[in-house]
Amino acid sequence: MDRYEQVIELAKRRGFLWNSFELYGGTAGFYDYGPLGSTLKRRIEQIWREIYVIQEGFMEIECPTIGIEEVFIASGHVGGFSDPLCECKNCGEAFRADHLIKHITEEADGLSDEELDKIIAQNSVKCPECGGDLGNTYEFNLMFKTQIGPGTGRKGYMRPETAQGMFVDFLRLARYYRDKLPFGATQIGKSYRNEISPRQGVIRLREFTQAEAEIFIDPKSKSHPNFQRFKDTAINLYSDAAQDIGKSEIMTVKDAVDNGIIAHEFLAYQVALVNHFLQRVGIAHDKLRFRQHRKDEMAHYAIDCWDAEILTDRFGWVEVVGIADRTDYDLSAHANMSKTELSIFIEYEQPKMVEKFVVKPNMEKMGPMFKGKAKIVAEALKALTAEELEKEEIKVIAGGEEFTVPREMVEFAQETIKISGETIVPHVIEPSFGIDRILYSVMEHAYDEEMVPAKESEEEAEDEARIVLRFKKEVAPVKVAVLPLLTRQELIEPSKEIANKLRNKGLLAAYDDSGAIGRRYRRNDEIGTPYCITIDYDTLQDNTVTIRDRDSMQQVRVPIEKIEDVLYELVHTDRKFESAGKPL
Ligand code: GLY
Repeated sequence: MDRYEQVIELAKRRGFLWNSFELYGGTAGFYDYGPLGSTLKRRIEQIWREIYVIQEGFMEIECPTIGIEEVFIASGHVGGFSDPLCECKNCGEAFRADHLIKHITEEADGLSDEELDKIIAQNSVKCPECGGDLGNTYEFNLMFKTQIGPGTGRKGYMRPETAQGMFVDFLRLARYYRDKLPFGATQIGKSYRNEISPRQGVIRLREFTQAEAEIFIDPKSKSHPNFQRFKDTAINLYSDAAQDIGKSEIMTVKDAVDNGIIAHEFLAYQVALVNHFLQRVGIAHDKLRFRQHRKDEMAHYAIDCWDAEILTDRFGWVEVVGIADRTDYDLSAHANMSKTELSIFIEYEQPKMVEKFVVKPNMEKMGPMFKGKAKIVAEALKALTAEELEKEEIKVIAGGEEFTVPREMVEFAQETIKISGETIVPHVIEPSFGIDRILYSVMEHAYDEEMVPAKESEEEAEDEARIVLRFKKEVAPVKVAVLPLLTRQELIEPSKEIANKLRNKGLLAAYDDSGAIGRRYRRNDEIGTPYCITIDYDTLQDNTVTIRDRDSMQQVRVPIEKIEDVLYELVHTDRKFESAGKPL
């Protein structure tokens, strides 16, 4: 069993992850979150919200998961969001053509369909399922199509990213933020991609949860106001150039910008913030790197992109976050499609005085002469140069007609005018998180097996292996388990009271009285519960209980009247376990 199998086996057994539609045999690319998986996911999402919504101030919005066709024509997804598909002529199984040749070339990502076919033919690549011949490669659009309304209806698509909602709502968001850049908006929600043949379990899903921030910035001002916060943070960078020599490099965020490895402060700050989030939820720092996209793998909307990649046992480095510089690609595309200006007026700190050539047609004189066409003639005059306007007879073309305008009808001059700002189309920096992959990685990095001395487990005479999920306390789904030592009424009642006190304090407390105490500890280790409280006969004498620490398996004795405060502090603050009570 490799680590992936171990984690998934535990995840299924303990109610984290289940194959969707299992009753009907299941289907690839879909997973259900069980009670603990759902809770773990919410905890990860809550930390994300705390960082991006509360601390960064990027307010959350919620848009439909179905989008109308115009949105995805404009965004480029209808035209270009596809993977190369190749089918077996014999058994009909579908494959990603680039995946079929990964063992032949590392550059499979950027190849055209024709190039893929050539390599498949030259290397006699056959169907991995039945050995049959493969058909020609063609592009398969990854969006799930749907129809909005009955009959011929209106074409719609399940959104392939949450991002488009923020672009389509740009003008509303700009008003909300009182037209001041930079500002950002976020969404956490489901996105959909009809993957050709997902064979990587929970790593490649057809319905998945994204957490995305779209941060609208002034392209001329890419310094970050809070850059100081991360400038000395060391991050593991695998830049485009570093990939040529196959070696990533650990450096400070400041050095990365100063040495031109990350293009600007704004992007670098976002890389560092992702690094901060991933470590806070429990990703091992030595299994985390940031890999820059190579030119030929960049998404159609990006000019630069850094992926946070996590090292996993079975799949190697897995992309879990993309931090892209999307420029003005999306806003300009939606402006064109909707025929609506999607821009913002930026006021200069100091107004600028600029020299401007100004043409002033005299409308009082021009009106009677050109009648209904006076306006278009005047507009055409404004486009002329001083030289043209100095001629005795000024000729202009307007509305396809030539007009001669007497010299005295137009004044012009070089004037100094005050400009208070300019209209710009903001650029977008986008950190885009795949929450499901992060959740799996958190589980894999938390997973541990160790030998436990016999004394922990009364019913076992010999040392035994214990499986423990060493979740950070913040992400652990269940914070504390309350365990009466024996299934006796006199112990059950105070145990249930304690569980209720903990719940009233907002702590997710489980109550468990089934099986021997050692087994109950093991069950809670397996789901990553940081603390277990045991109620025994001493409790009835001295009103104290035992708290057991998941990681060290140390125990302390604590008075009942303080139990909910102590547990709250252990879970939510830096309070050390040893300070919680008298050691046993
Ligand atoms: N919004 C980026 C992505 O979905 O890949």
